[in-house]
Amino acid sequence: MKVSTNYYSPPPSLYSNTAFGMIHLSSSDDEMDKDDRHPLGDSTTLLFREPHIQTAVVKLLKKDKPTTIKVLGCSDGSEAWSYAILMSKAFQDKSLVKVEAVDKKESLIELAKTGYLLCSDVEKKHATDKKDIGLEGKNWGKYFKQTEEPSEFQTLVRRYPELADLSTGQNGEVSPGSGIEWYKINQERLPDVKFIAGDLRDHLESDAEQTVYVMANSVCYIGEYEGTDKIIGVFEKIQNENYNKKLPTYIALGPVEIWWIDNHEPCVWKYIERLGFEHIPQHELMQAGVKNNESMDEVKRKIFRLKPSAMPKKANFRCQPSLACPPYVVQALLKGEL
Ligand SMILES: C[S@@+](CC[C@H](N)C(=O)[O-])C[C@H]1O[C@@H](n2cnc3c(N)ncnc32)[C@H](O)[C@@H]1O
Repeated sequence: MKVSTNYYSPPPSLYSNTAFGMIHLSSSDDEMDKDDRHPLGDSTTLLFREPHIQTAVVKLLKKDKPTTIKVLGCSDGSEAWSYAILMSKAFQDKSLVKVEAVDKKESLIELAKTGYLLCSDVEKKHATDKKDIGLEGKNWGKYFKQTEEPSEFQTLVRRYPELADLSTGQNGEVSPGSGIEWYKINQERLPDVKFIAGDLRDHLESDAEQTVYVMANSVCYIGEYEGTDKIIGVFEKIQNENYNKKLPTYIALGPVEIWWIDNHEPCVWKYIERLGFEHIPQHELMQAGVKNNESMDEVKRKIFRLKPSAMPKKANFRCQPSLACPPYVVQALLKGEL
């Protein structure tokens, strides 16, 4: 979300001194394409927060198949709109596309449903500077119309007072950057975008011929830091939902998930592999049109697909705390706290 609520306050015992907003989510800075990094940081919801991942995901998809993009933990909707815009440009027939965005926070879902969003000038500049996104020049105006604060917002604030912080910036809760303005999304140009209030784990079913599960900076927060086990649970459910369909199934992770797993439980990568998820080889990414630039390593790390040969999950296989886990994580796992 644009706000930095408690989702960004890491539990002190697990995160020591790390400030979520500051973390670099790749093991080495060299792996990141600095141009692709959002100037407003990695961990908040923003329009086109990670365009290199988002455009790569869209490039991988067959453009003539019914397709669902599930944005899990969608916050105020910025990420869902970002995918909807990219999909509207990539798919000639937008009726083939559905974007389903889920968040447990009803207030944010109600706001997203209005089609209004707050956007700062830095955020807008980032979105319009990137040629790959295609919002430069007059194209921005085709999708976004600047407006006064909508009356719908005030109505929502009466029902959900926590939303007030979105526009006032009280308590440091608004995204950094100046010139924060209201915009209305032009939904006529977009495929069907549906916002759903609920637990993302209850919305993993898909009847599309190809499905993308976007779990960016969201599955780490399930249950307020219930931890890695919950990330695994979501992978398991997606695997269970899709392995016997043998249809293209992709997962895109966000920077926080990568950071959490790398730093707290790297054995999760092995478990995900055992479930039948794989990274997409570089030559396939390039064939799909993903540029072989500095972000390639990050694209390879964050996007997974379910192998057609994936088998049902073996009940007896669980992720074991690895020696690479810090001792307090191992202890917490053994005590059943995570
Ligand atoms: C940091 S925001 C990420 C937003 C967006 N995915 C992005 O990266 O731009 C995390 C969101 O996940 C949502 N969330 C956490 N656990 C959830 C759950 N179990 N079901 C649905 N949403 C959840 C929170 O309400 C919050 O809006």
